[in-house]
Amino acid sequence: MKKEKVVYETLDLFPVPMIRVKYPKAQSLRKIIKPIFYDMENHDKTNFKYSANSHTSYATNLAGYGAKDKPNYSSALESTHWAGHELLSAIPELKDLRNFILQAGIQANRFIGIDRNVESLMFQGSWFSINRKYGYHGYHSHMPGLWSGVYYVQAVNEDSAITFLDTNKKHNWPSAYSMFSENPYSAPSVCIPPETGMLIIFPSWLEHGVEQQMDDRERITISFNLNPKPSTEQMQTQKERVEALS
Ligand SMILES: [Fe+2]
Repeated sequence: MKKEKVVYETLDLFPVPMIRVKYPKAQSLRKIIKPIFYDMENHDKTNFKYSANSHTSYATNLAGYGAKDKPNYSSALESTHWAGHELLSAIPELKDLRNFILQAGIQANRFIGIDRNVESLMFQGSWFSINRKYGYHGYHSHMPGLWSGVYYVQAVNEDSAITFLDTNKKHNWPSAYSMFSENPYSAPSVCIPPETGMLIIFPSWLEHGVEQQMDDRERITISFNLNPKPSTEQMQTQKERVEALS
């Protein structure tokens, strides 16, 4: 009698998609955008300025940028009205990068089975950070959102890495048993070393933080959230609901 062959299957459940791509114009953008960011930093009145034991986030208040009475970045930052923080839309020098990120967002959508065009994704928040010596950013997520991401304006591999947490490891499995070598099944977190021009896009629910910067270098990044753009019908329904309530 022929012996039946035993087949062991490994079912990898709940994979986490992440897009990584290099921006081809990274070096020229770095030179152009740094003076603009320094200018914005000098005029930013938000509470996220550089401190050795926290993180920085600038351009969280760009309301009014482009208006006749607010002709430059600095005056736009002085507005007291919060109307979104869309760095990538407000700064003309970032237009090409903005389109590049949108294309990467479309790839991310296609990867998980959402086949949509560029027009159907929109930014919901984009801002920049300058991570200096001893600066770091604690663990957080960007919910509610579809995709979030980081573009590295200026960074080297040795700068502080973004670290992603596997929240499936809440039960400390299998890390509780030291017999396991570290691999994708046992690692509770994954660090991705930064480099100038690298763009990563990840699900907004994925918890992440930035390690402490231990050198004097400035690690400069642009972060953002991408969400599906509501259809015209959805916008109309929303408008009608708001009107019915008022
Ligand atoms: Fe973040």
